[in-house]
Amino acid sequence: MAFPRLAAALPPLLLALTLSSPPATAQKIGTTIPEVHPKLETQICTTAGGCVTQQTKLVTDSLSRPFHDVNNMAVPCATMPLNATLCPDAATCAQNCVLEGVEYSSLGVMTKNSALTLRQYLFDGSAFSSVSPRLYLLAEDDMNYEPLKLLNQELSFDVDVSQLGCGMNGALYLSEMDMSGSRSELNPAGAQYGTGYCDAQCFTTPPFINGLANLNNSGSCCNEMDIWEANSQATVYTPHTCSGVGSFLCAGDECNKTVGVCDKDGCGINSFGLGAKEFYGPGLTIDTTRPFTVVTQFLTSDNTSTGDLVEIRRLYVQNGKIIPNTAETTNTAVQNLAGGFEGTITQDYCAARNAKDFTRLGGLKGMGGSLARGMVLIFSIWNSPGDFMSWLDGGNNGPCNATAGDPAQIVATQPDVSVTFSNIKWGDIGSTFKAEGPAGSAVASETVEKGVNNALAAQSGAGSERAMMAGSLTMSVVVGLAVLLGAFLS
Ligand SMILES: *[C@@H]1O[C@H](CO)[C@@H](O)[C@H](O)[C@H]1NC(C)=O
Ligand SMILES: *[C@@H]1O[C@H](CO)[C@@H](O)[C@H](O)[C@H]1NC(C)=O
Ligand SMILES: *[C@@H]1O[C@H](CO)[C@@H](O)[C@H](O)[C@H]1NC(C)=O
Ligand SMILES: *[C@@H]1O[C@H](CO)[C@@H](O)[C@H](O)[C@H]1NC(C)=O
Ligand SMILES: *[C@@H]1O[C@H](CO)[C@@H](O)[C@H](O)[C@H]1NC(C)=O
Repeated sequence: MAFPRLAAALPPLLLALTLSSPPATAQKIGTTIPEVHPKLETQICTTAGGCVTQQTKLVTDSLSRPFHDVNNMAVPCATMPLNATLCPDAATCAQNCVLEGVEYSSLGVMTKNSALTLRQYLFDGSAFSSVSPRLYLLAEDDMNYEPLKLLNQELSFDVDVSQLGCGMNGALYLSEMDMSGSRSELNPAGAQYGTGYCDAQCFTTPPFINGLANLNNSGSCCNEMDIWEANSQATVYTPHTCSGVGSFLCAGDECNKTVGVCDKDGCGINSFGLGAKEFYGPGLTIDTTRPFTVVTQFLTSDNTSTGDLVEIRRLYVQNGKIIPNTAETTNTAVQNLAGGFEGTITQDYCAARNAKDFTRLGGLKGMGGSLARGMVLIFSIWNSPGDFMSWLDGGNNGPCNATAGDPAQIVATQPDVSVTFSNIKWGDIGSTFKAEGPAGSAVASETVEKGVNNALAAQSGAGSERAMMAGSLTMSVVVGLAVLLGAFLS
């Protein structure tokens, strides 16, 4: 049974490799649980041609699926420390360990057309347990990640954060992962099974990196662009640079903050943190009780995809109005920027914020290189027992009090926390969104504020409210399922 599944699942080149080399040298793909990737439609847009729908899919991380001894499903492979019997070295480990498919509803993942809902907790019949999914966008080939090349381009999506309170983080971001998931002879599964994760935190604790046993405490590093880290109370968008190109390993001090190979702090904008406390939140300018569209533009020095990245601009669309990120700030260094602050990330802004590691490791120009080479789109929902996510929404960064983000408090009081992303589109600047309302964009031109080119406002995109309804339907299906499951099991 194992062979036909492997044959069906592997691309011709890899299949040839598998057939011509001893099967025992490759980490096995399990046959117990099939891997069925949830579909999530996305769109690629051009100014000239409009938007074209793609049948893209999602895959969960390799470490959030069953990964076990080939002879015994009850013995896990992905433990820390690694099991020395199974994994004395990467090749033996690959021979002994089997990566299985996973049932996505059991991870708190629901999709419908272009909408994705993620839940932090699922009810198992007696209690809520944390599932905290993290997913990667797969290309239409169902084998490799979808490369997003966003230099001189924009990305837009609709989001519903109304069910995400203090301490929660519904995230949509990019990492410069290998598009095959670092597929190799010892890791034939690759992106299809969610291997190859990396980010600018260079985590040194994963038991496996790129599908291989992490036997020497390496960290997995790469450039990261946090487009959206948010809940209903606060939001931040943050580029993080690294010294290396693509996905790479760090060792020892290289993995650290301040002396390391990646910028862990980043150069972000959180409008509340900059002093604009009435911009984003329930009932505020961006009203988080209702869905809205988030647009992020990666503008270059010469308005071409070969120029240097010079600005990362954020716009919102809600109730038919285009709303630029607020330029209000009480931060004097930011107020005093040459040319003024427009609520966007520029290299001068990063200097004013003293984002030293960001600049040391390449700054906006470096981030632009990564965006040009191609990055993987990632979705996650999570909370944080260590710091209660206060860097996002507490203290100076948001209205949440010191204990509101405690996961114990969240699961006790709002276990149904969820986020819905939908209508994900990317392409030419101005091609992925428009103001809704009367033809001629009268609404748009009245509401466009400083820093927004009116021409952008006149162009394409639509339908956020409809998709959001689909999103909330999807969510109620999940809640319904959880309740049903609970009733069934009890
Ligand atoms: C390590 O793997 C071996 C082989 O499956 C198993 O017998 C043993 O119980 C495992 N050890 C642990 C700590 O899981
Ligand atoms: C750690 O192991 C990886 C994978 O085998 C290898 O590529 C890397 O060079 C090793 N790092 C060090 C510092 O030995
Ligand atoms: C790097 O971090 C490790 C572990 O926290 C620490 O032992 C080491 O001193 C750090 N190195 C530097 C240069 O900060
Ligand atoms: C790039 O486009 C912007 C907005 O349309 C314009 O203001 C700017 O002058 C252009 N820059 C160059 C170098 O052409
Ligand atoms: C903190 O916020 C939570 C949730 O909003 C609330 O239940 C709690 O009473 C607050 N605690 C304090 C000390 O204000």
